[in-house]
Amino acid sequence: MELACPSRTGQAKPPAANLTPAPSGIGGWTLAQFDTALRQAKRPDGRPLVVPMAFVVPYAQNLTDMELEALWKHLRSIPAVPASPGS
Ligand code: HEM
Repeated sequence: MELACPSRTGQAKPPAANLTPAPSGIGGWTLAQFDTALRQAKRPDGRPLVVPMAFVVPYAQNLTDMELEALWKHLRSIPAVPASPGS
């Protein structure tokens, strides 16, 4: 899998999303919303996910429902971290 790394996109540091179960992360999301984000690059508020995450989405099409749910359960099992990384 080849992804656009920050050095290619010209950004000084990689942006990151808080995927922990914190309210500032994806704590308020449902599995259905997680599914929509990964398979349609759309957040619950309708905003699109940008690169490099947008480049991950075509690969997410290869995930089975069971694999996607396993990712979701893993992310639900990790400790909640309040602030977004890098903030
Ligand atoms: C199984 C792998 C991955 C999962 C489950 C995943 C999941 C997610 C989710 C759910 C979001 C939305 C979070 C939010 O809006 O609060 C997100 C955003 C993001 N992801 Fe991923 N991601 C994965 C892989 C990657 C990879 C490989 C990269 C970078 C190379 C990446 C970079 C990002 C970035 C930069 C955002 C923020 C995008 C934006 O603000 O529009 N992700 N990811």
